[in-house]
Amino acid sequence: MTDFTRRALAATGLAALASPRIARAQAAFPSRAITMVIPFAAGGPTDIVGRLLAESMGKDLGQPVVVENSTGAGGTIGAQRVAQARPDGYTVLLHHIGMGVIPTMYRRLAYDPVHGFEPLGLVTEVPMTLVGRRELPANSLAELVALMKSQGDRFNLADAGIGSSSALCGALFANAIGARPTVIPFRGTGPAMQEILGGRVDLLCDQTTQTTEYIRGGSVKVFATPSRTRIATLPEIPTTAEGGLPNFIVTVWHGLYAPKGTPAPICSRLTASLQAALRDPRIVQRFSEIGTAPVSQADATPEAHQRFWTADIAKWKPVIEATNAYAD
Ligand code: MLT
Repeated sequence: MTDFTRRALAATGLAALASPRIARAQAAFPSRAITMVIPFAAGGPTDIVGRLLAESMGKDLGQPVVVENSTGAGGTIGAQRVAQARPDGYTVLLHHIGMGVIPTMYRRLAYDPVHGFEPLGLVTEVPMTLVGRRELPANSLAELVALMKSQGDRFNLADAGIGSSSALCGALFANAIGARPTVIPFRGTGPAMQEILGGRVDLLCDQTTQTTEYIRGGSVKVFATPSRTRIATLPEIPTTAEGGLPNFIVTVWHGLYAPKGTPAPICSRLTASLQAALRDPRIVQRFSEIGTAPVSQADATPEAHQRFWTADIAKWKPVIEATNAYAD
C-alpha cells in the first residue's frame, strides 16, 4: 500500500479495513463464539428450532453458536438488537413470519425492519394449531366458535405480542368468526403454553414445533390447523377449510439474518453452515418429529430468502391495512 493510500484511508477512518491483519481475521472466520439472537422466550417454538440449528451450525463452524433470548414487543426487541449489532458475523438473528408483518404493523421502530439485515437463508416452514386448555367446553372447531362468540371478552386468547405469529393467527381467527376475545400477551408462546396447561388461559394459536408433544400427550385440546392440507404428523387434526374457514391460513416461515453490511465472505460462510445444518440427519429427524422439515438447499440461500421475504411483506400489507392491525 502506498503512503498516499494509507493517508487517504486514515483520513476516512477506513485504515483498519486495509490492514492485512483484518484480512487474515476475516479469512479465519469465525475465531470465537457466535451469538444467535432468538426474539422470543426460551422453550418456545422459535427457541426449539434455533437451539437445534445453533448446535449443528456450531459443529460445522468449529465455534460455539450461543443462543440469546432477547424478548419482548412481538419480536422487535431481538430484531433491533441484531440490526444494531456490529456487522461482523458474530451476531445473527433467527426470526420468522414476523419479518414479513412487522414492517407494516409497526410504524415507529428504532431500526429499519426491511433494510437493516442481510438475509442468509430460509430455514423451515411450520404449520400452526389452534389449541385450548383441556377443560374448555368445546370439542370441535364449530363448538369453539360458538363458545367464543357467546363468551365475548370473558374468553381469553394468549399470544406473543403484536408482530408474533400467534398474534397474527389469533387476530385472523377472531376476525374470521367475528369474536372479540381478551388478548393476553406473553414474551413468547413458551410461557403462554404454560398458562394453557395450567388452565388459566383458554386458547393459543401456536406452531407444531411446540404443540405436537402436548397434543399427542392429551394435555391440550386441539381444534384445527390453519393450513391448506392436514399435517402429516398429526393427520387427525382437521384444517380450518374443512371447518368452513377456507381463507384463514397461516404457516410460519423462519429465516436467518446478519446485520446489514456484514461482509459477503462472512455471509457466505454462515449460509454454507446453515445449509450444512439443514442436511444434518439429527435436524431432519427432530424437525420431522415436531411437524416440520428443513427447506431445500436452494431455499437456504440469501437470494431465495430475500425473494420470499419481499413477497411476504407485500402479501401481508393489504391484510394488515384492511384489518387495521397496527401496533401503534
Ligand atoms: C415463540 O417462539 O415464542 C413464538 O414463535 C412466538 C410467536 O410468533 O407466536
